[in-house]
Amino acid sequence: MNNLKDIIILGIETSCDETSASVVKNGREILSNVISSQISIHRQYGGVVPEIASRKHVELIIPVIDEAIREAGISVHQIDAIGVTFGPGLVGALLVGVSAAKALALSLDKPLIGVHHIEGHIAANYLEYRKLEPPFICLVVSGGHSHIISVESYIDYKVIGRTRDDAAGEAFDKIARTLGLGYPGGPLIDKAARSGNKNAIDFPRVHFSDGSLDFSFSGIKTAVINYINGEKQKGEKISIEDVAASFQKAMVDMLVRNTLQAAEQENKNIIAIAGGVASNSCLREEMERLAREKNIKVYYPKPVLCTDNAAMIACSAYYRYMNGITSDLSLNTMPNIKIDEKY
Ligand code: KG4
Ligand code: ZN
Repeated sequence: MNNLKDIIILGIETSCDETSASVVKNGREILSNVISSQISIHRQYGGVVPEIASRKHVELIIPVIDEAIREAGISVHQIDAIGVTFGPGLVGALLVGVSAAKALALSLDKPLIGVHHIEGHIAANYLEYRKLEPPFICLVVSGGHSHIISVESYIDYKVIGRTRDDAAGEAFDKIARTLGLGYPGGPLIDKAARSGNKNAIDFPRVHFSDGSLDFSFSGIKTAVINYINGEKQKGEKISIEDVAASFQKAMVDMLVRNTLQAAEQENKNIIAIAGGVASNSCLREEMERLAREKNIKVYYPKPVLCTDNAAMIACSAYYRYMNGITSDLSLNTMPNIKIDEKY
């Protein structure tokens, strides 16, 4: 219960297709983390439809917040602050969470804290590992983002590399769709790859020769699609499992190589992985295997904390709160805010 030293944060997340609310104690202890996913609705369209997502968030936001508070076993008056994702994300979806958070902050007379969605993904690691502290290198790979970030403190970040075109999750989703596996593609590729041969097809790995640790995934996407079309034209049968395993291995090789290089360059001996793609089993294994050789420790959250959830937002808000950073009621959505943009 809420004694003098406990800080209770309510987190709200609606940046894409998950309506989520969570109560977190002292930044690290999850009292509740309610996630209502709209995947079954968007699946029929093969991706997230922004207008439908916004409408669903409007329907779900109040029941989800109510449930999070009830599950946590607290009264709303015990909440010390309200953290909410204000960007990046889909503007209509973000607006629902931000409006709900503002209304609560105003009516309860509690501080409002705008949270950057990527910062939230990084913070998911603090919930999984209560002793983890910055500095470390974080690879953030999701449906909309692919960044290598040097986490300098709980609130300071330096971008070491970023994708120049598609996000890693986007590439997984696109290839899964081409293979007829369904949506979202990441988990389905991961599963199919388990019974495939990762060395069956040599897909290209892009690394920039100027020393940049940026990523580019559009080339591999095209290469996989060309391979599938080429085999079809020749009348050859494609092994979905082999394509999935070879594609996944090529993606993982690019992600792991640049992240390890970033850790060495920045002199960091901890690597954390975050975002939906961080649940990928091959990425976890390869990162751990190769990092061990360099005496670098690897951390990653359990899958439910990798994909979008409000506990990570509450955790991130806690550290802003402890640093005296709050937002006022003029907080607006910033659908395209960058990770190193001050706010
Ligand atoms: O972090 P997230 O829930 O949403 C964004 O902020 O974008 O990430 C969703 C992305 C999707 O592209 C999904 O295909 C991918 O994460 N993903 C995976 C796996 N699980 C989810 N990608 C590869 N392997 C997985 N096991
Ligand atoms: Zn996300």
